[in-house]
Amino acid sequence: MPAEPLSKAGLQDVIALDTAISYLDTDREQILIKGFDLIELTQHIGYVEMIHLLFEHQLPNTEQVKSLEQRLKDQCDIPTSLWTILQELPQETHPMDAQRTALSVLAGFDQSLHDCSVQANTHRAYRLLATLPMITANSYYLLNGKPIIVTDSSLSYSANFLYLLTGRVPSKLEERIFDLSLLLYSEHELPNSTFTARVIASTLSDMYGALTGAVASLKGPLHGGANEEVMKLLLKVNTPEAFEELLQEKLRQKEKIMGFGHRVYAKKMDPRALIMKRALIDLSNQRGDDQFLRMCEAGENLMEREKGLYPNLDYYAAPVYYMLDIPIDLFTPIFFCSRTVGLCAHIIEQHQNNRLFRPRVQYKGTPYQFI
Ligand code: COA
Repeated sequence: MPAEPLSKAGLQDVIALDTAISYLDTDREQILIKGFDLIELTQHIGYVEMIHLLFEHQLPNTEQVKSLEQRLKDQCDIPTSLWTILQELPQETHPMDAQRTALSVLAGFDQSLHDCSVQANTHRAYRLLATLPMITANSYYLLNGKPIIVTDSSLSYSANFLYLLTGRVPSKLEERIFDLSLLLYSEHELPNSTFTARVIASTLSDMYGALTGAVASLKGPLHGGANEEVMKLLLKVNTPEAFEELLQEKLRQKEKIMGFGHRVYAKKMDPRALIMKRALIDLSNQRGDDQFLRMCEAGENLMEREKGLYPNLDYYAAPVYYMLDIPIDLFTPIFFCSRTVGLCAHIIEQHQNNRLFRPRVQYKGTPYQFI
């Protein structure tokens, strides 16, 4: 008898599809995006260049960056009825759910919704990247009964995004660090949300539907929601010693510590976390306040010692966002905004070379019963 095929819990190590977008090369400790190492890229490009790389398949020259910045400014008109709908949401709604609602609503305004050609998909992806920062920030303001804020077109894409989130024009250092965080979050192979988006797109459903599913996936604390949970944990105490004690207690209770571990990196450091840690060091030095840095380092040392686990990007992104004065409820929506470029690239690729996802199961239920 042939051996029964084994299911893999959580699809661990299963190769689910072919892609030319990105690959986590854990042997070389590289995150390859379109053949470039993301960590190396952080020294040369910003988030807007990454958008060009993922949609146009090459790094842009200076002129192309300028024209893309302009395109993103020109395409940021938003249907006014979207604000009316968002205003109707209960105040307790998490901004992630508001973001999901907004994406669903936008589908209705797309005249060529069912055109899944590369050209149509790329066009709507650019529009989404242009509008999502404003939608995300304003859904938060509307939920909190505040007036909506408008784009400052004199600012760069990232500076304007941060301005929308905080209501103040950022310093050069803050702009650089925020842009870096968007770049680090932009694309990361096949996490749960990207897989979700591709599974939905494989039915030839539209880009908004695929992104809506991705928001729902990203919201979970085991995925994108971790950055908000990390911050809540850091705010529970205010010294490195107390933070260590807090984590020790959680480990004793067999609880997971948010911001540590990763399915693919497993017991290795997420290379993005190191870059984000450096950003936290820069920000702490500039502010003359290293409280979160010292607490995070204490947590990092403890987790390495006790569990052999290392921080992921969310661990260091959380205190960085907090120090940039961003409300905690917006941490995961920002992750989604930055990941939209990667998600859209995957949806475009899926539609371009599609085969419906339809896996099988290993049945463990009651055997066939005769009546
Ligand atoms: N805190 C404590 N223990 C952890 C842990 C964490 N953050 N992450 C993994 N572990 C432990 C598990 O308890 C398990 O231990 P055991 O074998 O003794 O039972 C082992 O490591 C394997 O964990 P598992 O949850 O099976 O790994 P996974 O590959 O399914 O999970 C994550 C990956 C990311 C879901 C997991 O590391 C996690 O929950 N991390 C916290 C949430 C987070 O930061 N998410 C963002 C990811 S980028």
